Amino acid sequence: MSAQTSPRSVSVVGLGPMGQSMVRAFLDAGVEVTVWNRSTDKVDAMVELGAKPAATVADALDANEVTVLSLTHYAAMYDVLGQATDHLAGKVIVNLSSDSPEKARKGAEWVRSHGAQFLSGGVMSAGDNITHPASYIFYSGPREVFDAHAELLRPLSPQEYLGADDGLAQIFYQALLTIFHPWLLAFDQATAMIDRSGHSIAQFVPFAVRSAAAFPYFMEEFSVANQNGGWATLASLKMMDAGAQHIIDASEEVGVDATFSHTAQSFWRKAVAASEEKGEAVSTYALLRGDKV
Ligand SMILES: NC(=O)c1ccc[n+]([C@@H]2O[C@H](COP(=O)([O-])OP(=O)(O)OC[C@H]3O[C@@H](n4cnc5c(N)ncnc54)[C@H](OP(=O)(O)O)[C@@H]3O)[C@@H](O)[C@H]2O)c1
Repeated sequence: MSAQTSPRSVSVVGLGPMGQSMVRAFLDAGVEVTVWNRSTDKVDAMVELGAKPAATVADALDANEVTVLSLTHYAAMYDVLGQATDHLAGKVIVNLSSDSPEKARKGAEWVRSHGAQFLSGGVMSAGDNITHPASYIFYSGPREVFDAHAELLRPLSPQEYLGADDGLAQIFYQALLTIFHPWLLAFDQATAMIDRSGHSIAQFVPFAVRSAAAFPYFMEEFSVANQNGGWATLASLKMMDAGAQHIIDASEEVGVDATFSHTAQSFWRKAVAASEEKGEAVSTYALLRGDKV
């Protein structure tokens, strides 16, 4: 069957901001969508856009071969699909909810134990804007299941299939969020410092954007170093400790919470202490990785 003549219909279960974006993307691409959500008001909003409502989870599963889940976490998957496990056989569950890799693996096993196929995904989007040019989705699970349904799922965002390990999409997704969360908090702290100092965030932000242009360079440098145990010299660790103190002072002088910078400083200090004890430089990468130093 060619991609053009494939059945173009899907069920979407979970209509938070992300599930709603997915429904819109499918509808915009001409895919028929059946929806179910625990709170029915969100169903009504999607029906107004052209989606078909399912009265029960069983109805949503029965309506299509493929059901996409967009739930808060994997625990919600058991609450939802647990209502209709006898409707899972022969179906394909694509869980695009966030959670830990191990929870994704256990979830995959549970779904398969009820006779359905399973793919896991991590939605690496600019917020819930899945049509943003920077947005894409990591997928993992059996290659043949991904290949069979890639065309149907394509309206959601560009696809990055990573491999057969059911936890893989979550490993990459959570690793990227590991970078994103501190960045977001650091951005809050930096802009609060500017504002509390009586200056303009708007004047500052172009410089923040400009400094971000150096991040790819640092990532390339440190990725090479981290594949070889991490990079450090005692002098650089001490310089970072002193630098963290300047950031803490600049924040606290104007009443901005510097908890985050104290945490950063504690890592530089830990690495300085470990280096002095060992008699050679110990990198923060080695400490975070949990290497015996
Ligand atoms: N929003 C984003 O910007 C974004 C970006 C990337 C990835 N993600 C990930 O995508 C997933 C969905 O995101 P979201 O923002 O739409 O999440 P959300 O606001 O937490 O909503 C998810 C849905 O989960 C349902 N739900 C939660 N617990 C449930 C339970 N025990 N039983 C039944 N339904 C339950 C909610 O139902 P009710 O409506 O009834 O509460 C809602 O429909 C999350 O894993 C999130 O981390 C989100």
